[in-house]
Amino acid sequence: MKPAVILYKSLPDDLRAKLDAHFTVTEVQNIAPETIKQHAAQFAEAQGLLGSGGKVNGDLLAAMPALRVCSTVSVGYDNFDVDALNQRKVLLMHTPTVLTETVADTMMSLVLSTARRVTELDKWVKAGEWKKSIGPEYYGVDVHHKTLGILGMGRIGLALAQRAHFGFGMNILYNARRQHEEAETRFGARACDVETLLKESDFVCISLPLTEQTHHMIGAAQLKMMKSSAILINAGRGPVVDQEALTAALKDGTIHAAGLDVFEVEPVPAEAEILTLPNVVALPHIGSATHETRYGMARDAVDNLIAALSGKVEKNCVNPQIQA
Ligand code: GLV
Repeated sequence: MKPAVILYKSLPDDLRAKLDAHFTVTEVQNIAPETIKQHAAQFAEAQGLLGSGGKVNGDLLAAMPALRVCSTVSVGYDNFDVDALNQRKVLLMHTPTVLTETVADTMMSLVLSTARRVTELDKWVKAGEWKKSIGPEYYGVDVHHKTLGILGMGRIGLALAQRAHFGFGMNILYNARRQHEEAETRFGARACDVETLLKESDFVCISLPLTEQTHHMIGAAQLKMMKSSAILINAGRGPVVDQEALTAALKDGTIHAAGLDVFEVEPVPAEAEILTLPNVVALPHIGSATHETRYGMARDAVDNLIAALSGKVEKNCVNPQIQA
């Protein structure tokens, strides 16, 4: 008999067919408590769980006593209680490689659109405000040959450094847990502490996961360390930045602008003050959201589930040590 799995994200037809060939699939909208209650029997017998979004914690694990593998269609897994998964010996698979270049493109687009006021001026032109050649009040700031600081030199940080160095002749600073030789030799990146990075960068780019250590890592004190001309880019996780402190810093000129793909609460509430600021470019968490990359992530998540449920984990596993 084929193992049972719960699918909580719709898949392209070919990938769904592949999943169906290996498993008995129950597709649900989400993994909210009401959904679990409604499909209690299917959750109880499922050995696999595939999707993205929603919290995977002790409560969900209690409803899934047969669960052996979670496969998330994402690189980030801060919504998973990894300790609880480890205790239950449930493998967690993710998609860390396929989205790297696309997320770096998104970050570069935030660098450019904040510096050159692309979205603000787009609205202005479409509103019929372009009556004569613009004056200094609408000028942007240069990107090329400036200093770009990267908090978190993982795969995405490295791809961003490549773009900034070769494409824009920028100086690269970075802060990471380990020295990154490739970033230093290929892109001339210089390792420094967080304070130096904040003080010297024209663009501070966050590419960090959300952990206890990174929660509110950028607050009022850190924003004050930045140049008043500096721009903050966050495409990691919203709660790495204290959004209230950022809103204040953007309003009183502590920093120049921000480009945000992530927010403390997502979807960001329409009434959030940060959305009213002209010096903010806001995106709806689209870091990896291209047709090609979202397909690749779904494909990897399906392959990860198939590999893990057949005991063949070779890559893309967050907690391989539990197999020992
Ligand atoms: C996106 O944020 C991801 O974690 O894949």
